[in-house]
Amino acid sequence: MSRLLSMLLCSWLAALGTAAAADAERGAMLYLRLPDGQASCVNCHGSDPAASRNNLLRAAAQPEVLLKTLNSIGVMGYLKAALGDADIEDLAAYLDAVARAAAAAERTVWPRTIEFGQLPPGVASAPHEVRLRNQSAAPLPVSPPRLARGRFMLSHDCPPLLAPGAECRASLRAVTAVPVAAGDFTDSLLWPGPVPVVVGVSAAASGAPGGSLLAVETEIDFGSVGVSETSQRRLTLRNEGVTAVTLGVATLTGPGAGAFALGEGCATGSVLAVAATCTVELRFRPGAGAAYTAALQWRSDGGNPAPVRLLAQGKVPNSELPAPAGGATGGGGCAAAPPASKGDFSLPLWLAAAASALGWRRHKSARLRTAGPA
Ligand code: HEC
Repeated sequence: MSRLLSMLLCSWLAALGTAAAADAERGAMLYLRLPDGQASCVNCHGSDPAASRNNLLRAAAQPEVLLKTLNSIGVMGYLKAALGDADIEDLAAYLDAVARAAAAAERTVWPRTIEFGQLPPGVASAPHEVRLRNQSAAPLPVSPPRLARGRFMLSHDCPPLLAPGAECRASLRAVTAVPVAAGDFTDSLLWPGPVPVVVGVSAAASGAPGGSLLAVETEIDFGSVGVSETSQRRLTLRNEGVTAVTLGVATLTGPGAGAFALGEGCATGSVLAVAATCTVELRFRPGAGAAYTAALQWRSDGGNPAPVRLLAQGKVPNSELPAPAGGATGGGGCAAAPPASKGDFSLPLWLAAAASALGWRRHKSARLRTAGPA
């Protein structure tokens, strides 16, 4: 393929990604909460949509599959009345963004959703962190993360260039008013880039104080563990609120999630009275890698604990130290830096491609504007 043609194709694909991401931001919110405030997809398909529980990702970029599913799967029937055509398209765009971001080799972001749960009036929640890691062997350009609606407090420590293997974080806090405006607030965190990352964020403001879960350990380090050994740790959850809390599903997510497992304790459906605690066993068993990290999240009918950070090292004999993960992807891929940095001559091409992609994908120039740097 000629260089010009391949550049045009890359720009067009990047523009398509941007247009999809704009819709995907709304889709991310709909994944967590329906427009009428009812619980949505997350209740059954879980906090990590990339895990594709119950074949969720079949609807990625396929609104018609989702529409068919709403009509054919009984438990999802109630969603028909709540979701319009545009909502269904936005959900499909979001699931597409999730699938693409999960498939991208050079960087990974976790957790993929943040739910603060029910918050009483007049609180600033503990920070819930989302991490981005450069999984490639080259420095990675990182755009600052931003919120679609600005409904949460956001700070981040991401440098413009992230070193190979390094992580940076976006930290989110929910703040509720006094008196509380009862209802839900949803938002979505976007990391712009050639493959945009969209993280749904939600909180529910309750009129009165309720239950609130705290993870006593905010970070658990399993230390250095030999191959074929298993390391165990315990994590304690405590109800810091003023009414009982029922535990929902726990989710392990992140690049090393597969090496960690949840054992006995703090089971879904258990009820924690005021000031009560439960303890869950966590296990780590290394694979072939050297360093592991993951996040552990809980859902509940009260305030949810911040994701707990899990860390561990696999003890690899010195002679067998693996090369750094990933690899430089030289040679003509869409490693797509922002268009302007590709050289002046490519910008008009990129714009033309973006315009045609948008025409193809229908409407929404306003959304394209919001997809630019804040
Ligand atoms: C009340 C629980 C529930 C809710 C809420 C729910 N789903 Fe499902 N969904 C299911 C179950 C259960 C299945 C699997 C059914 C089966 O395989 O027989 C499923 C299957 C699917 C599938 C796969 C269809 C296929 O072709 O295999 C998709 C896509 C999907 N859901 C999308 C969504 C989206 C998007 C939402 C939110 C708008 C949502 N679901 C909300 C329970 C739910």
